[in-house]
Amino acid sequence: MSNNYQKVKFFSGENIPLELHKARIVQKLFLVPIERRLEALKEGGFNTFGLQTTDIFLDMITDSGTNAMSDNQLAAMMRADDAYAGSQSYVRMQKAVEDVLGKKYLLPAHQGRAAENILACAYVKKGSVIPMNYHFTTTLAHITQYGGGIEELLYDEAYVINSSHPFKGNMNLEKLEDCIKRHSAANIPFIRMEASTNLIGGQPFSVENLRAVRAIADKYNIRLVLDASLMGENAWLVKQREPEFHHTGMADIIRTMTNLADIVYFSARKLSSSRGGGICTNDLKVYKELEPLVPLFEGFLTYGGMSVREIEAIAVGLYETWDENMICQSPQYIEYLVNSAVAKGVPMVTPPGVLGAHVNARGICSHIPKTQYIAGAFAAAFFLISGVRGMERGSLSNQRDEYGNETFADMELLRLAVPRRVFTLSQIKYVVDRLDWLTQNSRLIGGLKFVYEPPVLRFFMGRLEPIGDWPQKLIAKFKEDFGDSL
Ligand code: F0G
Repeated sequence: MSNNYQKVKFFSGENIPLELHKARIVQKLFLVPIERRLEALKEGGFNTFGLQTTDIFLDMITDSGTNAMSDNQLAAMMRADDAYAGSQSYVRMQKAVEDVLGKKYLLPAHQGRAAENILACAYVKKGSVIPMNYHFTTTLAHITQYGGGIEELLYDEAYVINSSHPFKGNMNLEKLEDCIKRHSAANIPFIRMEASTNLIGGQPFSVENLRAVRAIADKYNIRLVLDASLMGENAWLVKQREPEFHHTGMADIIRTMTNLADIVYFSARKLSSSRGGGICTNDLKVYKELEPLVPLFEGFLTYGGMSVREIEAIAVGLYETWDENMICQSPQYIEYLVNSAVAKGVPMVTPPGVLGAHVNARGICSHIPKTQYIAGAFAAAFFLISGVRGMERGSLSNQRDEYGNETFADMELLRLAVPRRVFTLSQIKYVVDRLDWLTQNSRLIGGLKFVYEPPVLRFFMGRLEPIGDWPQKLIAKFKEDFGDSL
């Protein structure tokens, strides 16, 4: 399957994404020598979360809070209303949520995981089971924190790394019904659908699938919760890949999806290129159940732990998700990166998804035992030889089970996030070039082991060290091939 969206054709026939924006504020980057990059890795515990931006060339760790903001967002931030209660900035955000997401009751939260905490606190108890297409790290952590468990109910093709399936994030409908029958609806406070399933390579679900999930939710009288953090991109891929929506505008596709859910929550760090989050619903009963938790965990109901300036940026950013030229930029760059890397023989998750390009580290480093954090080691090695910071999305990002055993991830991925309108095409070409080199020299990469392993969300603060002297071997080969090039 190819995703051939391109409004502007080149006379040369070359198929490259053309930027429909210009840069007006820029930030200097640092491409430091490889020896310094090794020191930086040691200082950061061979964990890319431990690195400082003064040592990083391209920061592809996430798109969370790092998308470029628009001139209109920055302008809106200047008029923010600082009132503790009754702020008009909040009224503008509420209006945007109603217009874009179609829900009139809004509960503000300081970011996506805070929304997850409120939902889990209100609805999850010991013995609860939350069926979902796939978990996100913070979602799972909050559900288990309150004594619940999850079931991930994808179709088999979701786990096929090289696939042409357009909607690998679809919920497996047969498994969903089976799950409800096994646990009984009384133990299932809600079904969760995550737009553009983050941890399996940013893969979308279809509207057809969401409609079917809604029908099952109705049949068993269970609420449907939509994680809309990556909703804009999911909607854009629906437009490209689902024939019914080829000629539908972004606003209508987004509303079609959010209308199917009882509760929608989001990380505004992703959805609206700003920082913050929220939960919204049209169900007054739900609103009343969640309302007391906002002042308890977040802040008063008209700011929810967010800066009022960010609230203004969210309001504008939500409307900007209707702009196809804005939303398509990141997925088109990702598609370019993935296709170029695949052409060089680098194993990548296909079809290209959203948020970032995903490198199949297990496909490259099959010689590293799974107990030695394959994707984590690859992420460290890639930073060492390129200065590009990605994020491990594999067993290191998983939490141990209740007995303390490792739970090995379905996939060992290096995620290279491509935030909206941040990088240039030559930077993307550099990433592909260094990925190609590392793939060809992958035998030199070795494993990692923990020297400090925190009990919760260990991938954020954990410290590791290399097993053996493989970083030095990589440096030697890099010097042989690149001489004194950075
Ligand atoms: N849901 C999804 C699908 C996410 O991707 C994230 C965050 C969250 C919830 C939590 O939101 O960060 O605002 O608290 N994803 C980031 C990432 C962290 O890098 O993929 P948050």
